[in-house]
Amino acid sequence: FAYPMPVNEPVLNYGPGSPEKATLKKTLAELKKKEADIPMYIGGRAVRTGNRIAITPPHEKDHVLGYFHEGDAKHVQQAIDAALKARASWAETSWESRAAIFLKAADLIATKYRSYMNGTTMLGQSKNAYQAEIDAACEIIDFLRFNVHFLSEIYKQQPISSPGMHNRMEWRPLEGFVLAITPFNFTAIGGNLPTAPAMCGNTVVWKPAHTQIYSAQMFMRILQEAGLPDGVINLIYVDGPTLGDVCFSHRDFAGVHFTGSTGVFNTMWATIGANIAQYRTYPRIVGETGGKDFVLVHRSADPDVVATALARGAFEFQGQKCSAASRAYLPSNIAEIVKRKLVDQVEQMKMGSVEDFSNFINAVIDERSYDKIKKYIDRARKDRKAKILVGGNCDKRKGYFVEPTVIETTDPQYVTMCEEIFGPVLTIYTYDANNFEKALNLVDNTSPYALTGSIIARDRDAIELATSRLRNAAGNFYINDKPTGAVVGQQPFGGARASGTNDKAGSMLNLYRWLSARTIKETY
Ligand code: NAD
Ligand code: ALA
Repeated sequence: FAYPMPVNEPVLNYGPGSPEKATLKKTLAELKKKEADIPMYIGGRAVRTGNRIAITPPHEKDHVLGYFHEGDAKHVQQAIDAALKARASWAETSWESRAAIFLKAADLIATKYRSYMNGTTMLGQSKNAYQAEIDAACEIIDFLRFNVHFLSEIYKQQPISSPGMHNRMEWRPLEGFVLAITPFNFTAIGGNLPTAPAMCGNTVVWKPAHTQIYSAQMFMRILQEAGLPDGVINLIYVDGPTLGDVCFSHRDFAGVHFTGSTGVFNTMWATIGANIAQYRTYPRIVGETGGKDFVLVHRSADPDVVATALARGAFEFQGQKCSAASRAYLPSNIAEIVKRKLVDQVEQMKMGSVEDFSNFINAVIDERSYDKIKKYIDRARKDRKAKILVGGNCDKRKGYFVEPTVIETTDPQYVTMCEEIFGPVLTIYTYDANNFEKALNLVDNTSPYALTGSIIARDRDAIELATSRLRNAAGNFYINDKPTGAVVGQQPFGGARASGTNDKAGSMLNLYRWLSARTIKETY
């Protein structure tokens, strides 16, 4: 059955007077007025534990949007049981029926619940309307539609046969349950990580970050309305170690689809390794992790292009994007003019609540994140090797606001050039414009990560040199652009080295990981 390549969902612009803006404003008011009571969803049932934890907008921390019911080890076990129970019938459900459910969910978001996916993301994760639209509407819709297309292409792949024999490939789901663990920063990751394995016939236990629950439960309810059978995806709210203790010691643990920090992924991998003899099958381990994404500028670059790529790459989404530009290498011949233009752009960025649609910068996700970012800024303020060019002020009285901040350093190994900060902080180092070779080495060897990066140059030879020399420095490499903004179906996304297993979200590579093929030879 063919599912043709879809087109990307168009991004609405929420301009003044637009109908989408009016609808979204109405939804935001409705969400803010009613206090949500958010259960877990296990085996299709809404589960309330009474252990209610408040959800507050990062930009307005005293406003309670609602409460979620936190679970414990017993609920993890119940979710696994529900997944295993649902597995038998789901794995036997025809591919066309499975596809229809996910395609319907995409349509429900596009036509009926767009403002709710955007509204819960704006309020729960402090993203402005445009950011939410890209993430919680378009990217989720694209993940669902493109994955259906890619999976239908995989299912078509069959080996050759010859006279007297027929060979075929059966694309089975994994044997056991799959665990999906998602981070706070992208609603679309919550849209993809549980559904990609489920589409392949697996059943899933899904644990989002606590700060993502407000939008995650909205998506779960849409999946249910689209007809997802009970127990295929089980949404639970527990802390990471509790989840790990139960899932990673379970005989039927068949794989984990993770996005989050490198440290958490490493710990998880070590636990799985230590328990390996307990599992019925070798678990698939798929993880997209941290980044320290670079912009390398060549002496031939256009300063305007550089300044815009840095401003947008570093500060859109509050810099809380795994792909955000966080270290830049400027050539001495244009460094001064680029810095001036960049500072001009940053000074014009308005910061504040998501409910004022003219704000470019909103709050960072929570106090822990705020404190971590502030610590790096405070350190740079005191360090002789660093200087704050613009920004640097932080204010957590109303919400967790951190100004977009540019740090300049004279040390290419300075701490903010090397470590992932995950906030609106960009560090710049100026290199001798006649020594591009040195800059290439620095880019490749300064950080353990290899997620995204870009080269900005007009000189074709410099572009070619950077593209080949930085082959392993980024899983997504951009030429004359910011290192962010990958679109499903256009730039399959994922990094290597300490940035993950590079299984490219929203592509066949990822879907293969959730399938365990059986080869069948029949002789006649
Ligand atoms: P995090 O690692 O703190 O949390 C990620 C998820 O893991 C959460 O659901 C969390 O509750 C869970 N978790 C924490 N400890 C656990 C444990 N011991 N066992 C099982 N689960 C556990 O990450 P975060 O702060 O939510 O997200 C930010 C991080 O995610 C950044 O490092 C960012 O670079 C990364 N990220 C990467 C990509 C990518 O595609 N490479 C995309 C988005 C975010
Ligand atoms: N898709 C997001 C980006 O590339 C993560 O910026």
